[in-house]
Amino acid sequence: MVPIRVPEDGDIEAGLRPKSLTDFIGQPRVREQLRLVLVGAKQRGSAPDHILLSGPPGLGKTSLAMIIAAELGTALRVTSGPALERAGDLAAMLSNLVEGDVLFIDEIHRIARPAEEMLYLAMEDFRVDIIVGKGPGATSIPLEVAPFTLVGATTRSGALTGPLRDRFGFTAHMDFYEPDDLERILLRSAAILGVTIDAEGAAEIAGRSRGTPRIANRLLRRVRDYAEVQGDGVVTRDAARAALTVYDVDRLGLDRLDRAVLRALIRSFGGGPVGVSTLAVAVGEEPATVEEVCEPFLVRAGLVSRTPRGRVATAGAWEHLGLVPPTDLQIGSITVRDGTHQPELFE
Ligand SMILES: Nc1ncnc2c1ncn2[C@@H]1O[C@H](COP(=O)(O)OP(=O)(O)O)[C@@H](O)[C@H]1O
Ligand SMILES: [Mg+2]
Repeated sequence: MVPIRVPEDGDIEAGLRPKSLTDFIGQPRVREQLRLVLVGAKQRGSAPDHILLSGPPGLGKTSLAMIIAAELGTALRVTSGPALERAGDLAAMLSNLVEGDVLFIDEIHRIARPAEEMLYLAMEDFRVDIIVGKGPGATSIPLEVAPFTLVGATTRSGALTGPLRDRFGFTAHMDFYEPDDLERILLRSAAILGVTIDAEGAAEIAGRSRGTPRIANRLLRRVRDYAEVQGDGVVTRDAARAALTVYDVDRLGLDRLDRAVLRALIRSFGGGPVGVSTLAVAVGEEPATVEEVCEPFLVRAGLVSRTPRGRVATAGAWEHLGLVPPTDLQIGSITVRDGTHQPELFE
């Protein structure tokens, strides 16, 4: 039997990727900073400084790495931190580079130590030392590397060692997207996918996308399914609301896992403070997922605060779950007596 190949989400996502800086919607600060880095390098005729892209998943880091290579008119070589287990893995990658190439290392915070140490020298002096043999007889053979630009992406820039972080000439801090930008992204994606959507439908999906383009595009596809099956295929506000209820995405864009984290924090730990790994165990998830995927948005939405003693649910979190916050809710050293939520005090 010949298997029928159904396009996966990943294939569709690739088709929706912005291809140039002008195509890239939102993140005006990062876009402008990056434009200056790239134009400056092009004018000097040299490879730009190494670039670190930092931010939660789905905000456009991989897309930007591809755009950097495209804007420079050079080839992009792709690898990831977990794939560079031994220094030899990295040496093989580096020795294949051609002058001006962009080397993209995704999840660079997960690179193994020996490879990381080799990377320091390659980033700074465009050479590496290959160690041959073991013990007293070991010799190191220097190897030239063509001048290249390293683009690293990370969801946890705090997990990067100081020496590695210092070797990047520019760090782009990507932040969650504003609803307006997500609406524009949704309209663009709908046009590419051939989906009819109205402004209100786009606004409804944008508001529930956790500030994240990847989620916006995914919800758009789910709402489209719903609109095609239950309606006339047009993505309107009503279609979006009904579909997102079916898919368990609430008014603020929280999904099952986000709500499970909030519920555990409030029901099992009385609102905190509790450590992130304890919280992860309570919801049966990897600590990294809770820390890198759920938490940044919950903090940004003002539902969770990070305090020196652990994570704490804010009054807004209690209310979001339909619960009454305790009257003496403690966040950090500040007691919120009236239960009103003032996120700027705690962040
Ligand atoms: N600024 C943007 N404009 C339009 N679409 C975007 C933008 N940023 C991200 N996307 C969409 O979101 C998807 C995920 O982006 P990606 O670059 O893979 O994120 P990351 O690498 O940060 O996880 C892309 O396929 C693209 O469709
Ligand atoms: Mg990526």
